[in-house]
Amino acid sequence: MPFLATVAAYLLGSLSFAVIVSRVMGLNDPRTFGSKNPGATNVLRSGSKAAAIITLALDAAKGWLPVVLVRWFGKPYGLEDGTLALVGLAAFVGHLYPVFFKFEGGKGVATALGVLLGLSGVLGLATLLTWVVIAYFFRYSSLASLVAALFAPVYYVFGDGVAWYMRTEVLVAISVMSLLLVYRHAENIGRLAKGTESRLGKKKSA
Ligand code: G3P
Repeated sequence: MPFLATVAAYLLGSLSFAVIVSRVMGLNDPRTFGSKNPGATNVLRSGSKAAAIITLALDAAKGWLPVVLVRWFGKPYGLEDGTLALVGLAAFVGHLYPVFFKFEGGKGVATALGVLLGLSGVLGLATLLTWVVIAYFFRYSSLASLVAALFAPVYYVFGDGVAWYMRTEVLVAISVMSLLLVYRHAENIGRLAKGTESRLGKKKSA
């Protein structure tokens, strides 16, 4: 059962909603412009705020859903904390390396947020708030994602995790997600260092 749940979460994570939503809404494929990343930030560069918001919501939902399903209904089926960590990580890895899109996926920001919200509302909201504050002051989506990713495991350890349900498996899953997210932002980090990263609000540049 844990294996099946993990595979199902990976398949759900493999739905690249940036590509699907853009196709359905008649927009250009996000893999062909801007940063070429199939993610909400790059969909925003197409000029459609609606498409970007829908992408963000669906990419987050595919991380949130498997986690809450295991949390709420898993126990009678033998799905415990280890499975909680596995399904969250599997959905995230599905987004990064989607089986339906030649294993060429996105950077995982929205899906990681969904996983964190599924694990704990406070954890997810604290991480989201971190993203919003950095994005507001610096106008870089990537920088906001990187800072939020680094803070997420810290919030888990020092936040409500300590108070009521800190689990090693979950902490490892969150930390692995953060490391993979940073790894996938290698090009963004290079552009940030050179001062050539695209600021939020600008269209169709890398
Ligand atoms: O959504 C990922 C974000 O952190 C950066 O996206 O398109 O600017 O590389 P992008």
